Amino acid sequence: MTILACLFDLDGVIVDTARFHYLAWKVISNRWGFEFTEHHNERLKGISRMDSLEILLEIGGITVTSKDKTQLANEKNQIYLEYIMQMTPEDVLPGVRNFLHELRNNFIKTGLGSASKNAGLILERTEMASFFDVIVDGNLVTKVKPDPEVFALGAKLLRINNKNCVVFEDAVAGVQAAHNAGMKCIGIGSPLIVREADAVYPGFDNLRLKDLCIN
Ligand code: BG6
Ligand code: MG
Repeated sequence: MTILACLFDLDGVIVDTARFHYLAWKVISNRWGFEFTEHHNERLKGISRMDSLEILLEIGGITVTSKDKTQLANEKNQIYLEYIMQMTPEDVLPGVRNFLHELRNNFIKTGLGSASKNAGLILERTEMASFFDVIVDGNLVTKVKPDPEVFALGAKLLRINNKNCVVFEDAVAGVQAAHNAGMKCIGIGSPLIVREADAVYPGFDNLRLKDLCIN
């Protein structure tokens, strides 16, 4: 395939905020006294805030009113924001900036495709917004991954055909969203988790465009 654009998930790909989401949800789950593990947390990756809460409630076997759900999601977000406000440009994962520079030097378009409504704030804290030609986040889409909307919209705004886009994702739902958009997907992280991806790399450290093995 000819790569004309690369679309990046944010949490867990550009920055390690996946850990902050986990820690914030853990504060909420601790109140109910059940163990919310990192293994459980994989199910929440790439999923919207409210859908994450639904999964957390299901894991814990907890029932709450819809008013309480709104309150719990807000509380989780406040805890999460405390972590985000501590972020600096040093929190960008190793090799990410070099890889994005390499794409620019090769005239490959770049886009962000994130379910997060906090993406703008994270990009601001880490000074990463200028690396992306388009930014599609949780405020712009109505359907969540594995629905292809977030990546399809990114490609549309870049005016690049879906089949010429490669997505970088750390979440199962995100890999499925890329494939549902008819795009190739590079998994970032463990092959045990992003096993449906077309190729998997542990991260961007030492990753070069020419190394990408996708057909
Ligand atoms: C995704 C994360 O990027 O954003 C999910 O992988 C998170 O874990 C989702 O739930 C929504 O994030 P936010 O910042 O809008 O609560
Ligand atoms: Mg992610």
